[in-house]
Amino acid sequence: MFPKDFLWGGAVAANQCEGAYNEDGKGLSIQDVMPRGIKGPRTEKPTEDNMKLIGIDFYHRYKEDIKLFAEMGFKVFRTSIAWSRIFPKGDESKPNEKGLRFYDDLFDECHKYGIEPLVTLSHYETPLYLAEHYDGWINPKMIGFYEKYVTTVFTRYKDKVKYWLTFNEINSVLHSPFMSGGINTPKEKLSQSDLYQAIHHELVASASAVQIAHTINPAFQVGCMILSMPIYPLSPDPSDVIEAMKQDHFNTFFADVQVRGEYPRYLNRYFKKNNIHIRVTEEEKEILKNTVDFVSFSYYVSVCATADPKKNVRGEGNLLGGVPNPILKASEWGWQIDPQGLRYELNVLWDRYQKPLFIAENGLGAKDRLTDDGNGGMTVYDDYRIEYMKDHLIQVGEAIEDGVEVMGYTSWGCIDLVSASTAELAKRYGFIYVDRNDDGSGTLNRYEKKSFGWYRDVIASNGASL
Ligand code: BG6
Repeated sequence: MFPKDFLWGGAVAANQCEGAYNEDGKGLSIQDVMPRGIKGPRTEKPTEDNMKLIGIDFYHRYKEDIKLFAEMGFKVFRTSIAWSRIFPKGDESKPNEKGLRFYDDLFDECHKYGIEPLVTLSHYETPLYLAEHYDGWINPKMIGFYEKYVTTVFTRYKDKVKYWLTFNEINSVLHSPFMSGGINTPKEKLSQSDLYQAIHHELVASASAVQIAHTINPAFQVGCMILSMPIYPLSPDPSDVIEAMKQDHFNTFFADVQVRGEYPRYLNRYFKKNNIHIRVTEEEKEILKNTVDFVSFSYYVSVCATADPKKNVRGEGNLLGGVPNPILKASEWGWQIDPQGLRYELNVLWDRYQKPLFIAENGLGAKDRLTDDGNGGMTVYDDYRIEYMKDHLIQVGEAIEDGVEVMGYTSWGCIDLVSASTAELAKRYGFIYVDRNDDGSGTLNRYEKKSFGWYRDVIASNGASL
C-alpha cells in the first residue's frame, strides 16, 4: 500500500527541455556546447545540431505541459533551475531578474493545479563561463558562487518551493567530469587528486546549501541525489563479492558524506593506495555536518562486477556502466532492465541511512511511433513503457511493504525531452510525445501516449491499479 500522501509525479531538467538557450539574459551552460552529450566532443560555441538549444521549447510552452501533468494527477513536478538563467556567467554580483521571473511563473503555474515543485539546483548545467574560467568544481571559489546562487533562489522562492535537491547524480562526476562538474580539464589529463578535490568542493557546497536553506526557511526539505545502481557479484566467488562491494563504495560514499556528515573510513585506504591528496579544512569539516533531510536517487539499471579481468567486459548503461548481467534483458540502448533491483536498492539505502527516500528518476528510453488513434487524433501505443513502469512500481510497493519509507516517485522525462548521455530526441521517455526529431523537423506539438491514461489511473488509485 502506498502511503496516502505519496508524491506521484514526473521529472525533467531545464537544459533537456527548456530550449531558449540565449533568451531573456540566459548565459551559456556547458550543455550548449555538448551536441553529442558525453558521446562526442564539445564544441567551441553552440552549434545548430545541438538539440538542447531548442529542446522541446518548454520555456514557451510550460503552461500547456503543466496542464497535461495536472490531467495525469501529478502531485509533484521535478525540474531544475538553469543556473545560467539566474547568474549568466556564474560569478556576477547581481542575478538576472528575467530568469528569476521565469521560475516564479513556472512555480505559480504548478501551484495553480496543486502540484508541488521539487527543484534540482544543479542538473548538469554549470554556467559555461565557470567551466572555462575557473575549471568548474576543481576551484574552491565555486563554493562561494554556488552559495550565492542558492541563497538567491531559496530567498526568492521561499514560499513557492519546499523540496530541493543540491546536485543531480552527484557521483557521476567520477565518470563525466565536464558534464557533471563543469571541469574543463580534459578527463585524460585530470589527476585523481584534482578530481577528488572537486568532489570535496561539491560536497561542502551541498552541505552549505542545506544550512542556508534551513536558515531561510526551516520548513525546507533538502535532499541529496545519487545515481544509484545495484552492483551484483557476477558469480558467488568471494572475490567477486568483494569487488562488487568495492565498486559500490564509489557510488555510496557521496551519500555517506551527505547523510552522515563525514567521510567514510573506506575512502582513506583508497586515497592512500592511489596517492590521492585533498585539502580539507576544519571549517569545511564543520560545514559537512549539515546533513540532508532525505535521500533521492535515480534508478535505471543494475550491473555486475567481477574480479576476473577476462570477464570484466563493460556493457552499455547509464553514465556509469558495468559488467552486463547474463540474466537480464536490456532496452534498445543496452540499459539492462531490473525491476527487483529497485526494491533491493530501496532496502539497501533505507537500512544504511534510515532517511526518507525519494525515487527522483526512473523510466524507459525507447523509440516511439506516432500513429492514428482511430478517433482522428494521434497517439503512441507504448505498452512496453507501461510494462516497464508497472514492473518497477510494483517493486516500490514491495519495498514499502518491507518497511521502507518512500516519499515519492517522479518518472524520468514525463514529457519527451533531449537525452543527457546521447543528446538525442529519438530516445523518448515521456507519457507525452513531442513532435520534434533529431534532424530538426517537427511541429513541437504534444500528443498523449497510451501510458498517459495508464499513469493517470495509477495516481488516481494511489497505486491500487498496478
Ligand atoms: C540521468 C540524468 O542520468 O538519466 C538525466 O539525471 C538523464 O539527466 C537520465 O536524462 C536518462 O539518461 P539519458 O542519457 O537516456 O537521457
